[in-house]
Amino acid sequence: MAGSGVLLTAFVVLHMLGNLKAFQGPESFNHYAAWLRELGTPMLPESGFLWVQRVGLVALVLLHIWAAWTLTSESRAARTVGYRKSRSQVLSYASRTMRWGGIIIGAFVVYHLLHMTMGTVHPQFVHEDAHGNLVRGLSVPGVALAYAVAVTMLAAHLQHGVWSAFQTLGIAGPRIDRMKRPLATGLAALIWVGYLVVPAAILMGLIR
Ligand code: HEM
Repeated sequence: MAGSGVLLTAFVVLHMLGNLKAFQGPESFNHYAAWLRELGTPMLPESGFLWVQRVGLVALVLLHIWAAWTLTSESRAARTVGYRKSRSQVLSYASRTMRWGGIIIGAFVVYHLLHMTMGTVHPQFVHEDAHGNLVRGLSVPGVALAYAVAVTMLAAHLQHGVWSAFQTLGIAGPRIDRMKRPLATGLAALIWVGYLVVPAAILMGLIR
C-alpha cells in the first residue's frame, strides 16, 4: 500500500510541477508536452515514454487497490466477533473516507483522460495543443469545479496516506512522530494549492 502510494505521490508532484508551466505561456507548456512525447526517442518510438508511464501508473493503481482490499479483508478476518461499540471511530472514519476518496479520484482520472488526453468529452479539443485544451477546457466553470473537487479529495487522501505510510514503512522515532502530521499536512496543502491555482488562474483570465 505504502510503496505504490509513494510512487503515485511522486507522479502527482511531478504532474503538478508540469501543470504550473501553464503560467509560462502556450509555447513553454506545449514545448513541455512535446518533450514528454519525444522523451526516449529514437530508442523508443514517439510517445514511448508516455506509454511506459501509463502502463506503470495502471500497474501501481491496481497494486494500490489490491493492497487496500487485502488490508481491509485481513483486519476484518482478524476480528471474527465485531466490536460491540466501535473502538476507534476516528480510524473507521479515516478508512471509509480513504476508500470513497480513492474511488472518486479514480473516477476523476478516467474523466480527466477522456477530457485532456483523448479529448472525447472536450468539445473544443485540438490534437497536440495541450495549452489550448487546458485553457478552453477549464474555462467552463462547472468543469473547473469538478477539477477543484477532485483535487481537494486528492489532497485529503494524501494527507492521511502520507501519515500512514510512515507507520507502514516503519519510519518512526520521537522526532519523526512529532513531524509526521505537519509533514503530511504540509505536502497535502502544497499539492492542493499547486493544482488549484491552474483552474483558478484560467477562470480569472490570468492564463489565456
Ligand atoms: C487542476 C488539476 C489538473 C490539471 C490542470 C491537469 C492537466 C493535465 C493535462 C493538460 C494533461 C494532458 C497533457 C498532454 O496531453 O500533453 C493531463 C494528463 C494527465 N493527468 Fe492531469 N491535470 C490535473 C490533475 C490531475 C490529477 C489529480 C491526476 C491524478 C491523480 C492527473 C493525472 C493525469 C494523467 C494520468 C494524465 C495522462 C498522461 C498521459 O498522457 O499518459 N491529473 N493532465
